[in-house]
Amino acid sequence: MKKKTPRGNVVQLSEEEPEKKPPARIIAIASNKGGTGKTTTAMNLAGALALRERRALVIDLDPQCNASITFNVIIDKNTGKGIRPLLTKEDANIKDCMFARGQWCDFIPADPDLYDVHTELAIDPRGRFRLRDHLQQVINSYEYSIAERSFPLLNLAEMLCQPRS
Ligand SMILES: Nc1ncnc2c1ncn2[C@@H]1O[C@H](COP(=O)(O)OP(=O)(O)OP(=O)(O)O)[C@@H](O)[C@H]1O
Ligand SMILES: [Mg+2]
Repeated sequence: MKKKTPRGNVVQLSEEEPEKKPPARIIAIASNKGGTGKTTTAMNLAGALALRERRALVIDLDPQCNASITFNVIIDKNTGKGIRPLLTKEDANIKDCMFARGQWCDFIPADPDLYDVHTELAIDPRGRFRLRDHLQQVINSYEYSIAERSFPLLNLAEMLCQPRS
């Protein structure tokens, strides 16, 4: 198939143009107020996306671990998986930290001792960007990335998203 450009030059296109994949949408569900439906929203969103066969990555950042319990992924701080290494280690491998939950959903669980990481991140200038940098390694594998619950002193959107250039 040949297409004319506005200047009249002819450019050669392949038979089927590859469909341009939109960038993953990152959804941050955060509120310092308890009991406002953060976990419920994240879980239902993940379920609805799976039913629509959309690839999603769900991230639990809450030491209460309610999303992790719902997904039946219970870990402790020494497991070396889940959100802790992604918040604290530059050399963590994000793929090693996640758990597949069915064909469409991957999940990164929290651990119940995450409060101590919060204190660490608040005084570490690199800390708040570490998760964002790890997330960039896999973000193109997903259509949606859903993270719930921030730490009181940190901005969840800032922790997840690259600034616009
Ligand atoms: N849209 C809704 N309509 C009615 N009830 C809801 C709705 N969303 C959540 N709830 C109920 O509100 C309660 C709190 O929800 P949830 O645990 O999701 O809040 P949360 O913000 O994650 O709480 P926490 O801050 O403790 O983690 C639950 O009992 C849940 O079933
Ligand atoms: Mg919750």
